[in-house]
Amino acid sequence: MSQPPVNDSPGIREPNDLMFQATSRLPHVLPPRAYHAPEIAERERATVLRDGWHLVGTREELSRPGMFCTVELLGVPLIVRNCDGELRAFVNACAHRHCRITSEARGESSRLRCPYHGWEYDAAGVATKIPAPRNFVPLEQGEFRLREHRVATCGQLVFVSLADDGIALDEQLGPLASIVSERFGPDWSPFLRFAPEYAANWKVPVENSLEAYHVPAVHPKTFRSDPGESRSRHVIDEHYTSFTVNLPFSPHSKLDAWFQRTEGWLLRQLGVAPRGEYSQHHAFPNLLFSFTDAVSLCHVVLPTSATTSRGLVLQFSRNARHGAAWQRFVAQAWGQLAAQITKRILQEDLRMFGEIQRGLEASPHEGVLGRCEERLFAFQAYVDRRLNLSQGVMESSLACERAVEATHD
Ligand code: FES
Ligand SMILES: [Fe+2]
Repeated sequence: MSQPPVNDSPGIREPNDLMFQATSRLPHVLPPRAYHAPEIAERERATVLRDGWHLVGTREELSRPGMFCTVELLGVPLIVRNCDGELRAFVNACAHRHCRITSEARGESSRLRCPYHGWEYDAAGVATKIPAPRNFVPLEQGEFRLREHRVATCGQLVFVSLADDGIALDEQLGPLASIVSERFGPDWSPFLRFAPEYAANWKVPVENSLEAYHVPAVHPKTFRSDPGESRSRHVIDEHYTSFTVNLPFSPHSKLDAWFQRTEGWLLRQLGVAPRGEYSQHHAFPNLLFSFTDAVSLCHVVLPTSATTSRGLVLQFSRNARHGAAWQRFVAQAWGQLAAQITKRILQEDLRMFGEIQRGLEASPHEGVLGRCEERLFAFQAYVDRRLNLSQGVMESSLACERAVEATHD
């Protein structure tokens, strides 16, 4: 299989009016069945997704001791809790007879107490109060505890990894670590939390965010046209890709032009010199970030089955916390407006996902990627390497051939 194009690959043109790196169309690396076959989805959980870091919320949502939220990551239900000032993630299943510790999506409680028989756990997840303990003799102190997983933060974003010995969050974020830390730092506040259910394999929403080719067809009113090759810059790496364009994103959209002018004015009122740039970043496999001068967005997508997925979108805007009351008011109003616009654009994309999924499940085609879709090629090649799918596909075709031959014999 051919490798993803990288910046110094031979055959890559010098940037002039051509800003993509690929000089010809690219193969659609993953076959349609990689988007719906249950056995591939299962392998993907283990080899592509399990050792990654997954966004679960913000520090603000867990700012006081006892505050918690519950999430499900790759079929594992978790409680993420502020335990005496430290964020910890426990599997939401009691060590006695497996009852969920809580069914609430978020809340605040002084104790971690199982509702079934009343076992109580301390800040470290150790069962410290067991009613009628003589029933459980011999019983050693600290013998029963909740299963714990790693938690890490970057800026105000909180992530959980299910892999005890996987990579560090900074390692997965790679070149993004310092940008994310700053752009979700104390000068930024959350304005949008959106957890959409997608009627498609998790790779469909991820791939959708890696190209602007769909923009004229899917966002005719909001963006109208994509920025085109001459204004786009791609970075393609082994675990990471990005796209940058000077704003406005679409030269033909009145809404976009108005948005950029107003955002530039707003930033100058807040004492920030606008760079006038939009960048979109993908830390493989499923962490997506977008930045303008006034908006920072993180989007993570995880499978809920082979053919469905769930996103978590957190959008932050500048908070002008050191500014005058009117500056804070303007920043607040802008954050709310930007959140509404983002939600509208996401919903325009979301409507496509079910159609793409139905097509994938019946498609007789191999598919093909345009040069503008080279970031998908890099992502698909990464997934393919992790899954060793080309090998898997060959093995299953051989197994099919043998089965057919056996039937004919
Ligand atoms: S199942 Fe939790 S206390 Fe019994
Ligand atoms: Fe889109």
